[in-house]
Amino acid sequence: MSEAKRQAAEKAIEYVKDGSVIGVGTGSTVAYFIDALGRIGDRIKGAISSSEQSTRLLRERGIEVVDLNAAGPLALYVDGADECDPQRRLIKGGGAALTREKIIAEASTQFVCIIDASKQVDVLGRFPLPVEVIPMARSLVAREIIAMTAGQPVWRQVDDGKGLVTDNGNYILDVHGLAITDPVALERTLNQIPGVVSVGLFARRPADVVIVGGQPPQVI
Ligand code: 5RP
Repeated sequence: MSEAKRQAAEKAIEYVKDGSVIGVGTGSTVAYFIDALGRIGDRIKGAISSSEQSTRLLRERGIEVVDLNAAGPLALYVDGADECDPQRRLIKGGGAALTREKIIAEASTQFVCIIDASKQVDVLGRFPLPVEVIPMARSLVAREIIAMTAGQPVWRQVDDGKGLVTDNGNYILDVHGLAITDPVALERTLNQIPGVVSVGLFARRPADVVIVGGQPPQVI
């Protein structure tokens, strides 16, 4: 599927306006977008990065990384997704960057999501829903999610058997077994649990455009 990811990423370059600061997501599809952005680096002012990983890739390609507080509203945000439904609502956070991704999406007038066809679903929830939590609230949030939903939260681990720590110093719970028929309501409900930093549902603020890699890419 990497060729499809590259095709979607290349197509997204058409949305970049000269002289602008671009919001940039995280992940393997976005890595292709950063490659393409590097080729037109002299046409843009810089980028707002959603993760340490993307910051490194952007700098390697000579693109200046700008603080969101200094940039103001953004015209464009480009990011991948783990799942996408027909209303362009998304599950994100497979790369643990959901909180910064959500902040940049909110700051942007246009959110262009780049995916391959394997990410398209009718109902969100086959991909476990990432929820970023303050470490001391991990068990509390897990119990509340079990009480409120049909889902099973699993603490995301790294290879050494420790909890994965996000760029913000928090943990991730991946909620398995959800069939998310009302993503806006679930996003709102989970956001209200004390200790939840952010929920990987992008439903209240979905993507504006979804590009599915292919020959030619499909724009939804
Ligand atoms: C990172 C994300 C990514 O956009 C999502 O995981 C998709 O990644 P990839 O492009 O590698 O398939 O939400 O937090």
